[in-house]
This record gives sequence, C-alpha cells and structure tokens, in this order.
Amino acid sequence: MPTSIDRQRLRELFSAERERYAREHPRSRELHAAADHLFGRVPMTWMNKWVGGFPLGFREAHGAIVTDLDGHDLVDFSLGDTGAMAGHSPEPLMRALTRRVGVEGGVTTMMPNEDAEWVAAELTRRFGLTRWSFTLSATDANRWLLRLARLATGRPKVLVFSYCYHGTVDETFVVRDEDGEARSRPGNAAPAVDPVSTTRVVEFNDLEALERELAYGDVAAVLTEPALTNIGIVLPEPGFLEGVRAACDRTGTLLIIDETHTFSAGPGGATRRWNLRPDAFTIGKSLGGGVPCGAYGLTEELADRVTRAAALGADIVDVGGVGGTLAGNPLSLAAMRAVLGEVLVEEAFVGMEELATTFADGVRGTIERHGLPWSVSQLGARAEYRFANPAPRDGGTSAASSDVELEDYLHLYGLNRGVMITPFHNMALMCPATTADHVTTHQRVFDEAVQTLLA
Ligand SMILES: Cc1ncc(COP(=O)(O)O)c(C=O)c1O
Repeated sequence: MPTSIDRQRLRELFSAERERYAREHPRSRELHAAADHLFGRVPMTWMNKWVGGFPLGFREAHGAIVTDLDGHDLVDFSLGDTGAMAGHSPEPLMRALTRRVGVEGGVTTMMPNEDAEWVAAELTRRFGLTRWSFTLSATDANRWLLRLARLATGRPKVLVFSYCYHGTVDETFVVRDEDGEARSRPGNAAPAVDPVSTTRVVEFNDLEALERELAYGDVAAVLTEPALTNIGIVLPEPGFLEGVRAACDRTGTLLIIDETHTFSAGPGGATRRWNLRPDAFTIGKSLGGGVPCGAYGLTEELADRVTRAAALGADIVDVGGVGGTLAGNPLSLAAMRAVLGEVLVEEAFVGMEELATTFADGVRGTIERHGLPWSVSQLGARAEYRFANPAPRDGGTSAASSDVELEDYLHLYGLNRGVMITPFHNMALMCPATTADHVTTHQRVFDEAVQTLLA
C-alpha cells in the first residue's frame, strides 16, 4: 500500500511555510506591493507563478547561486527555466558582452558579422542540420519555422503531442481531452481561431494514433520535443522516435525537433545522443546564456524546397511573416559564440549529467524509503520528480498526476531553506557551476520536507 498524504497536515505545513516566507522576505514583499505600474505587479505575468504570495525579488546571480533582495543565497536549479543553463554570468560571456557593447560597440545594426557564421557552423557540428537562421526566442523559432514548413509542403496543418509546450505558438495549444477528442488547451487565452482547425494532436508514445492522423495527408510538420519536458519529463519509449521519423517519411511530413529544453541531453542535444534525423530544428533560451536569442535549422534539402516555394511568391525577406528586426543582432550572436565556444562545451556536460544522476538517485532514495507513489526521470543534466509511479508515458497522464498543493509545499519549503527549482512542475537543471555540495543541499532539504510532511 503506497504511503498517502494527509491533506490537512499538508495545508497546515504550507501555511506555516508561507508565514515564514513573508517574515523572512520583507524587501521582496515590499517590491511586489509597491509595483503599482506593473500589470500583475511583476515584469511578466508568469512571475506570479512563484509560490508564497509574492515572488522573490532579485538582487544578483553568479554561477549556480542566486541572491534575493533580502540577501538570501539560493542554490539555483531553476536556472531561468533553462535560459541560464550556462550558469549565471559565466566569465567568457561577460568578456564577450563587454567587448561587443563596450569596446567594439553596436548592439543592433541589421548587418551580418563573422560571429553569425561561426555560431551557425557550431550548430551544424552539434546538431547536424546545415542551414541556420536566428531569432530572439524559441517561440519565434517555432513560429517562423511552422510558416516555412507550410510553405515548403503546401499543407495547412501541424501535428503536436498533447500537453506539449513550444512557447506561445498559437497552433500548439491543443490537447486530447478525457474522451480522446482534440480540443483547445484549458486556459488558452482567446485564440484567434480554434486551434483544432490548425492542428492535429495525439498522445506522446502513441505511434498508432500518429500514423492515423498523418494518413490524412494535410500535416506539414510534426513539431515535438524528443522527450516532453513541460508536463514533467515524459521520455520516449524504445522505438517511438524512430517510428515518428518513419511515419513522417511515409506520409511526406516534415519532422521538427525542438531542443530548447532537451539540450540538457548533451552537447548535441537528444538529436545527437539518440541519432534523430529531423528535417528542421529549433532551440532558444540557453544558447546565449540568458541574452535573448534562438535559432532554427534546416536540412539542405528543406532549405532548397523553401527557397523554391518562396520563389513562387512568398516573401521571406521583408513583410511576409518570417523574421524580426532584432533577430540575429550582434549582441545575441556574441553571446551564443561565447556560450557554445567556451561554456556549454562537450566536457561541461559530463559533470552536469553526473550531478543530475546524483540528484535523481537522492530523490529516488527518499521516495523509496517512504514508500511514496512518485517517480523521478532524468534527461542528461535535467531531473524531475513526478507524483506518479510508474513515470507517466504521455502528456495526458502526466497532466493528471500534477498535485498543486504538494508542489507548492515542496517548492516553498525549498525557497525558505536556500533551494530553488522551477516554479513550473518539479524540474531541476545542473549548470557547469553546479557542485556536489549544491546537490547535497537539495537532497537534505527535500528529504527533510518529505519527512516533515509524513511525520
Ligand atoms: C520546448 C520549448 N520550446 C519553446 C519554448 C519557448 O521558449 P521562449 O519562451 O523562450 O520563447 C519553451 C519554453 O519553455 C520550451 O520549453
């Protein structure tokens, strides 16, 4: 009989944690209370996701440590939800930014420079695709690439997996409901059109359903992460990704792999680690060490198809719906060159993955010792625990296993004791500056939180 949680006790403990949080973070509280000109009192509405009634105010961050406005140091396993996977302000990044902005000068110019080709060549070396364009975010990389996929194939739709997340891309906000019907994702804020009309959706790891939906012949591209990472980590079952590639080949559908989060799988992401062969590829966040940037890559063949299709009248140079003024700016490129060239290098991933394994083993130990029906999944430098055992095999099951009360308690218990994981589900990421001591600190605090709950 798995251990169950006493809900009353959970609520009492959470309420005590909230009192402690409010007591120990007066400056953060004031910052929030005084932000009369900010919509939602935060710079971006999702910052209200932080648990505790108000978010921690930010003072500074170095390596794997964030210092809040009240002077508390926290071990940062959130790392800006992957944007800071290179660690906060690593020295090579600082050098490159200082040179770009202060010495040579010029943040945005609309002119190409040598960094662009260097970064593109490095992306080819790591991920295999040979033609690259730059964006300011992973969202834009996905958005623009979907246009190019429709242009190249002449097909109107996209296929995604239920409970995927690829940024605020309209076409991707579709799920399968309890009856297996496609529908707009709960909470989808006022979409321009019902995304069911633009998108087919199936559960991850369900090849049969994928083949059925692709058989309609109207899907330009399957857009997926190699493993879902935004509804907990949902790993692909053996043969699944090979099956997706084969189904795409059979039906003339493009395969777009989004490695924005799964870059944690290694220096060439899951694409290299699992030998995936996407037609197109997107990535963002971590590439520039937090400086806004993103990229999409095309195979030679797809680049040629897009060029040929565009020649028939689609404008991919000016106002045809692809691109942005600041995309490919020299600051982003300098940042990407520094991060790829000197920070998130091959050797760095070895240590990051070892620490993620230690992190996952520790959490697993606590779960097993207490007989909890939870599980832990790992993807290279990233680990995540989920309130389900076995680990969910698709987005729908994973969504159903979320437990907001429990999550909030564990997150706040950590924040009150110097440990930060992502405010969205229970994800922890290692950066090159993460140490064994940091992981031990998390383990001690997590174990104590669970013990206190079950006492
Ligand atoms: C897989 C994936 N793709 C794209 C995005 C969008 O990234 P951004 O919000 O930086 O555009 C995210 C964000 O979490 C993501 O997880």
